[in-house]
Amino acid sequence: MAEDSTPRPQRRPATPSRKSVLRGALLATGLPLFLGGAPALARNLRPSAGEQLPLTPYCDDGDDPTPPQMEGPYFKPNSPRRSSLIDAGTPGTRLTISGYVFGPTCRPLPNVLLDFWQADVNGAYDNTGYRFRGHQYTDEQGAFKLATIVPGLYPGRTRHVHVKAQAPGHPVLTTQLYFPGEPRNSTDTIFDPALLMTVRPVGAAREATFDFVLNVPHTPPPSPPPGGTWRTGVDYRPGARVEYGGFSYECLQGHLSQPGWEPPNAPALWRRI
Ligand SMILES: [Fe+2]
Repeated sequence: MAEDSTPRPQRRPATPSRKSVLRGALLATGLPLFLGGAPALARNLRPSAGEQLPLTPYCDDGDDPTPPQMEGPYFKPNSPRRSSLIDAGTPGTRLTISGYVFGPTCRPLPNVLLDFWQADVNGAYDNTGYRFRGHQYTDEQGAFKLATIVPGLYPGRTRHVHVKAQAPGHPVLTTQLYFPGEPRNSTDTIFDPALLMTVRPVGAAREATFDFVLNVPHTPPPSPPPGGTWRTGVDYRPGARVEYGGFSYECLQGHLSQPGWEPPNAPALWRRI
């Protein structure tokens, strides 16, 4: 199936003063700092020598929400929860993708669902199993890290990684991430330079960084809804906390509980705390 082009969103004009907000927020959350006090964000990683790269979208002066892109034909729900899509025998150039997820006021967003899928080294998608598919959640600092390989080239497309990002209780952002310096970036009608990762070689591997900005309003989180002991037939809301099997769990997505959806069996719905 072909992956068609999609209209590109308009970028809004730059607005000042985001940087100070961001730095204050990061310092408050205890994120690691580089020497000199600059936050250790994806944008601090520079491209390899000689490369002139457009800036990736980061949470700074004039930042925009990360633009959406088409899902494409190969998304599959219910991917495994894992931060590594590879094992020792996986062919391909090792790639890590790391970064942060921010809200529009530059505050890091924890517990954001990030569901990645991509082609294998030959440019093929696994549509029968879950190879090169996996989801994870940002940590308390809004950070994520994925271990994978550099995807092969899918016919007609430039090199890319698909991702869905969803803050708890908010709409899903579906988009794609791109690699700088790819010859097909200039001919792929879907390509958006705002979605370029920063990529640098580390030995034979690659390290990529990208910071997402989700258009999620920053309202004080409501008190967790009452939970108690998990049971069926309950309309659990995000943030609800329950006990099951001697452990505590936090609800990640609102749902009506059903037999078989016990917290240990439904990692997309419940996170052990
Ligand atoms: Fe694709």
